[in-house]
Amino acid sequence: MMTTNEDSSKWWQQAVVYQVYPQSFQDSNHDGIGDLNGIINKLPYLKKLGVDVLWLNPIYKSPQVDNGYDISNYYELNSDYGTLDDFKHLLDEAHQNEIKIILDLVVNHTSDQHEWFKQSKKSHDNEFANYYIWKDPGENGELPNNWGATFGGPAWTYVPERKQYYLHSFAPEQPELNWEEPKLRAAIYKMMRYWLEFGVDGFRMDVISLISKRQDFPDADDSYAYSKRYYAGASNGPRVHEFLQEMNREVLRNFNTLTVGETPNTNSDQAILYTDVDRHELNMVFNFDHMHIDYGKRGKFDNKRFNLVDLKRVFTEWQDKLSDRGWNSLYWSNHDQPRAVTRFGSEKYRIESAKTLGTVLHMLKGTPYIFQGEELGMTDAKFDLLADYQDIETKNIIDLYQQEGLPEDYIKEVAYLRSRDNARTPMPWTSESPYAGFSDVRPWIKMNPNYPEINVADALKNKTSVFYHYQKLIALRHELPVIVEGKYTLYDADNEDVFTFTRTANDGTMLLVIASFSESVLTYSVPEKLVGNQQWQVLLDSSASEIDFNSQLTLQPYQSIVFMTTN
Ligand code: GLC
Ligand code: CA
Repeated sequence: MMTTNEDSSKWWQQAVVYQVYPQSFQDSNHDGIGDLNGIINKLPYLKKLGVDVLWLNPIYKSPQVDNGYDISNYYELNSDYGTLDDFKHLLDEAHQNEIKIILDLVVNHTSDQHEWFKQSKKSHDNEFANYYIWKDPGENGELPNNWGATFGGPAWTYVPERKQYYLHSFAPEQPELNWEEPKLRAAIYKMMRYWLEFGVDGFRMDVISLISKRQDFPDADDSYAYSKRYYAGASNGPRVHEFLQEMNREVLRNFNTLTVGETPNTNSDQAILYTDVDRHELNMVFNFDHMHIDYGKRGKFDNKRFNLVDLKRVFTEWQDKLSDRGWNSLYWSNHDQPRAVTRFGSEKYRIESAKTLGTVLHMLKGTPYIFQGEELGMTDAKFDLLADYQDIETKNIIDLYQQEGLPEDYIKEVAYLRSRDNARTPMPWTSESPYAGFSDVRPWIKMNPNYPEINVADALKNKTSVFYHYQKLIALRHELPVIVEGKYTLYDADNEDVFTFTRTANDGTMLLVIASFSESVLTYSVPEKLVGNQQWQVLLDSSASEIDFNSQLTLQPYQSIVFMTTN
């Protein structure tokens, strides 16, 4: 299958990754929580879709304050998901189907229930004393600095036993690890080797851009203070590249892995440093710039709609910057983001826009990530009650907005548009009530109420479904080197409705992608430079229309077409 790249160590450049949110994928043992055997049950489905790699969100032992991103033991699994034997079985079955599996690596912080933290907080001089970031209070008990935690409140919590504060960029139950401590780094590398030897194929590294802190712990400027962000002194810190190069030497270079770093607050210049092959750090990073184009005055939890010109500018910057050195990862959504159709497409033209979003993303240069359900064109979940939200981030925002006296309708609207729970509703496998084949008992979180229309069984029956469009996109990537390697060029940067770009391979093969983001029928004039003497053939059309290349194209709402030439 992997035929396009001669250098097989770069297999991840031709791969498509599918993200599985384990607790919401499939429940095999009737407790309302997705599990490892549920994933095994659905491997034939994933094989049919054609993806190469699964990324599993954290499956380790955890008190689940932040849905598994608070790990209390790196070597044990969350028993709700299954046993180590179940996981071995999943790995074996996946590998037999030529599907690789990467795990989430959460090493910026642990749970406060991790043994390391339990020891560390006891005294200044135990074996783990220096595993976390401890600071003395100011003269009058003040906090060490003004950093805020992502989920609200200050980033510091006081522990009477040590008479010190510890740092947490997220919830107080997620104390920050101290990467300055060599013993801690050695323990993490050991754990990584354990999982790679166990058979996993790589890692998605949670907030890896935060692991090295500026040791002077400077105050953040005002805009970053409490309940805003902690990043000023915490992101892309002085030793982050040194640590990742060490991790590469100690662990990664001895295995054939896919590594992707989640790197909040990282720009495209910094991304090159993380992903340039010659620097031996990571294969690719998740950037957030396109996630920020619809932030409003209240940040993420706002009802601002993105505009296409901004989206094109951001994608183009990253495509251009990482075209020769480094490598892009491509995504519309994940477990922290709302659904792509609602956010970047149109619920009214759900199927059309879902296909077009798929086309745009998969035709860019980089490794595409599909978040579970995206291949069905899932939309955000309209919960009836604010009390139905489960996620710590959303709950804290609801509290904050209620305290600020914002109207209930507005709070409901932004929760609907931005809550992480939009992504976390169970996979709808069938149209059957009440739990859509996900489980036969009440799931841990509400179903998206639209499962009778949006579900796997119906998608598989319908040859024009979003599912088969994604299947085609994945197959094309495996067949056509131009999709993996071709150089990206943007056209019509200022067009507010249409996203037009080309990909050009060294052998002259070209792709031309024309994608409408409009709910209206448009007449689109193809840029003159592209009309010339190329012989454009339709490679993929999101609609059933039989379009031929023409200098004037009539585009249906959210229609996208990929043309190809080989002259
Ligand atoms: C990452 C995860 C998110 C989690 C946070 C803290 O952003 O994707 O789900 O809450 O890190 O670990
Ligand atoms: Ca279960």
